[in-house]
Amino acid sequence: MGYVKLVFFMIFPFLCQLSLSFCSSLSHLCPKDQALALLQFKHMFTISHDPSDYCFDITDHLIQSYPKTLSWNKSTDCCSWDGVSCDETTGKVIELNLTCSKLQGKFHSNSSVFQLSNLKRLDLSNNNFFGSFISPKFGQVVVYSLEQRGLHTSGRIHSNSGQLEFLSFNRIWTQLEWLDCSVNSVTGPIPSNVSGMQNLQSLRLSSNHLNGTTPSWIFSLPSLTGLELSDNHFSGNIQEFKSKTLSRVSLKQNQLQGPIPKSLLNQRDLHYLLFSHNNLSGQIASTICNLKTLGVLDLGSNNLEGTIPLCLGEMSELWVLDLSSNNLSGTINTTFSIGTNL
Ligand SMILES: *[C@@H]1O[C@H](CO)[C@@H](O)[C@H](O)[C@H]1NC(C)=O
Ligand SMILES: *[C@@H]1O[C@H](CO)[C@@H](O)[C@H](O)[C@H]1NC(C)=O
Ligand SMILES: *[C@@H]1O[C@H](CO)[C@@H](O)[C@H](O)[C@H]1NC(C)=O
Ligand SMILES: *[C@@H]1O[C@H](CO)[C@@H](O)[C@H](O)[C@H]1NC(C)=O
Ligand SMILES: *[C@@H]1O[C@H](CO)[C@@H](O)[C@H](O)[C@H]1NC(C)=O
Ligand SMILES: *[C@@H]1O[C@H](CO)[C@@H](O)[C@H](O)[C@H]1NC(C)=O
Ligand SMILES: *[C@@H]1O[C@H](CO)[C@@H](O)[C@H](O)[C@H]1NC(C)=O
Ligand SMILES: *[C@@H]1O[C@H](CO)[C@@H](O)[C@H](O)[C@H]1NC(C)=O
Repeated sequence: MGYVKLVFFMIFPFLCQLSLSFCSSLSHLCPKDQALALLQFKHMFTISHDPSDYCFDITDHLIQSYPKTLSWNKSTDCCSWDGVSCDETTGKVIELNLTCSKLQGKFHSNSSVFQLSNLKRLDLSNNNFFGSFISPKFGQVVVYSLEQRGLHTSGRIHSNSGQLEFLSFNRIWTQLEWLDCSVNSVTGPIPSNVSGMQNLQSLRLSSNHLNGTTPSWIFSLPSLTGLELSDNHFSGNIQEFKSKTLSRVSLKQNQLQGPIPKSLLNQRDLHYLLFSHNNLSGQIASTICNLKTLGVLDLGSNNLEGTIPLCLGEMSELWVLDLSSNNLSGTINTTFSIGTNL
């Protein structure tokens, strides 16, 4: 196999010289219907006059903010468009990354983006996709001072917003692995009748105004590794997870109640567990120490009671532990700092 590949790459330049069409067929990949769907999508939104040149992603990395779709046009291959990635062999669009693209407008269920059936990664975070209209009366004040970095939306005031209902109309994104709509001013509940996204590995909807209970389809996703629903208004209990591959779960800053799900205590690869600023109750089971890979455990500002599992002091990977503002008793011998601000 290795030989065959090597030979191909060696003769590739000759093929290019011999047959221009062979090479152009490789560089012009984007099928027409995909380009059309993307252009339709582009025209559904306006570019906001938000003066900030930067935004922060979920892990607080600074990202330059600029209107990526402005340069999209018919004269170039859509696979070369900013934010678009295609499958190397089929040319179908597999990734759309429009984070921090100053897009503004409503996301309808008939959106052409639903025609991109091969989409694997969709990053729409840090836009105002769902806000239909920003009243000039309220204005839009974007203050990205260092102090406010943690609260992504703190400086933004949106008067009217859209919802995530379009997700329930989706039947075509069966290959979607990554969906990020965080920091977008979405309101209302997550639809409960979403199906067909069984390959979803990462779902990020943090820093919106979502409310209602967290629907069961999320908890039954078999390959889920990352779930970010922090900084919303979700209420009700956290259900048991079907996935055993969770790595990062953040549900902090909501109004969730009930116990910490047991299914979280036998994950093999859990690194981050952030549940602070909710109303979780019950005890912290000592089996939490079975989570050998856990690096961040943030359960602060809840209603947890009982004793603090002593074994927490022996967890070698743990570098942030916050159990403050609960009704917990006991001490642990540690070499790390307790109450580190997340
Ligand atoms: C079309 O796209 C190309 C590449 O992104 C860009 O250089 C060019 O300016 C665009 N043309 C128009 C009319 O926007
Ligand atoms: C989208 O692009 C930004 C950088 O511009 C990157 O940080 C982010 O991880 C990308 N999203 C996905 C889903 O790959
Ligand atoms: C999509 O739906 C919206 C709202 O229902 C409607 O205003 C718009 O005309 C529709 N667009 C197309 C292309 O059907
Ligand atoms: C999902 O539920 C919403 C609200 O109950 C409803 O409007 C929508 O038609 C449902 N979608 C599908 C595809 O059944
Ligand atoms: C969710 O918020 C909307 C207002 O944005 C409100 O009308 C609705 O009652 C809320 N639902 C729940 C379950 O809290
Ligand atoms: C927190 O949950 C308890 C039940 O565990 C309930 O009695 C209490 O009202 C809740 N507090 C808030 C602020 O929702
Ligand atoms: C804290 O827990 C103790 C039992 O461990 C209980 O007696 C007490 O009422 C609890 N306090 C609050 C404020 O919930
Ligand atoms: C914690 O440390 C103190 C003093 O360093 C020691 O007396 C105590 O036995 C330790 N407790 C545990 C549970 O290891």
